[in-house]
Amino acid sequence: MKNIVILGATGSIGDSTLSVVDLHPDKFNIFALSAHTNWQKMQALCEKYHPKFVVMTEEKSANKLQQSLTQSQASNCAVLSGEEALCGLAAHAETDFVMAAIVGAAGMASSLAAAKAGKRIMLANKESLVLAGDLFMQAVRDNNAELIPVDSEHSAIFQCLQNGQTGLSKIQLTASGGPFLHTPIEQLKTITPNEACAHPNWSMGRKISVDSATMMNKGLEVIEAHYLFNLPAENIEVVIHPQSIVHSSVYYQDGSTLSQLGNPDMRTVIAYALSYPDRMTSGVAPLDLAGNSPLEFYTPDLDKFACLRLAFEALKQGGSAMGTLNAANEVAVEHFLNNKIGFLEIAKIVERTLNTVQHTYITSLEAIVTNDKIARETAQRIINA
Ligand SMILES: NC(=O)c1ccc[n+]([C@@H]2O[C@H](COP(=O)([O-])OP(=O)(O)OC[C@H]3O[C@@H](n4cnc5c(N)ncnc54)[C@H](OP(=O)(O)O)[C@@H]3O)[C@@H](O)[C@H]2O)c1
Repeated sequence: MKNIVILGATGSIGDSTLSVVDLHPDKFNIFALSAHTNWQKMQALCEKYHPKFVVMTEEKSANKLQQSLTQSQASNCAVLSGEEALCGLAAHAETDFVMAAIVGAAGMASSLAAAKAGKRIMLANKESLVLAGDLFMQAVRDNNAELIPVDSEHSAIFQCLQNGQTGLSKIQLTASGGPFLHTPIEQLKTITPNEACAHPNWSMGRKISVDSATMMNKGLEVIEAHYLFNLPAENIEVVIHPQSIVHSSVYYQDGSTLSQLGNPDMRTVIAYALSYPDRMTSGVAPLDLAGNSPLEFYTPDLDKFACLRLAFEALKQGGSAMGTLNAANEVAVEHFLNNKIGFLEIAKIVERTLNTVQHTYITSLEAIVTNDKIARETAQRIINA
């Protein structure tokens, strides 16, 4: 029986993880759960799973949850708050597996804590690698942590590379192209948040849905892949594949290409991360290839999807540029979701922030946090101007 901690339990990945765990009560125990503010959903999870610990990172929400659980007497889990508590549970002696599924830079410290404690980290929070890739991978190596990607593309590549990287020439991440693949760029000006969040294939949180629509998500995944598979930008390619059936491919020098295929459902990826190196059921239906034909592939338009171009540029610059890219994007997406800026302004704000913030080498968590703060302030100033 493995003790699982789900960081970001109330989100989309949290939901999918719990639904896979529900299928295997003999294998997994929910040891701890975290959320930020959604204490009502967390209360329901406490009543169903009876975790030993719960963290609401926002203190006010932790107090509300505590009060409500005391009244209902339905669960006697310990309610904690704050980032330190999050890191403490990620590194707890009784924790076996950590699902790192907090959205954004807020998930970095707890993922790093799990790596330093030598846990199995099922990494959905790509921002941990985008912001702190070198430090994070070093912590994984130094502490014999097990890092299993929970992103469909990286899981696909991880699965294809089970025999190692000898003879590998490149990896190719597939991208659905999002809801605006065939929308002319002029029409993107007036896109609303709800239109941007209506992803054709995947059901996800709102921030990552907007990132999919701008293709910044693919850009962050390119950076994620660079760290996970230790490959330079030149050996990482993106191809648009609207059906999201081929999840990614690896190319070998001998002309062979290996791909992993499946229905677009994160439960497959999560089940693999939980059961690795074995396989177990996930609740996902088997793939019907004939029913999904034809499978299409296109080269991405980097003028229309400027965020993807900017991510490649930031990766080539290295150091703090990737953290700057991420921070500016988080600020811009939040403003877009709040109807403060237009869809096409997201890339412009990211580009102007990248051109304004000075790039440095990153050698500590403090430097990452400082750069993140400067980049956010800069992006905010650019928006206000
Ligand atoms: N969804 C997918 O299919 C998918 C696929 C691959 C990778 N990912 C990655 O997985 C991560 C989670 O994505 P998601 O779609 O599951 O996001 P989501 O649905 O928005 O859920 C985010 C989770 O993080 C918590 N959270 C939000 N802000 C926080 C903060 N400041 N501090 C601590 N916790 C916070 C939320 O708690 P509240 O509910 O209380 O706000 C919620 O539990 C992201 O990094 C995303 O890029 C997602």
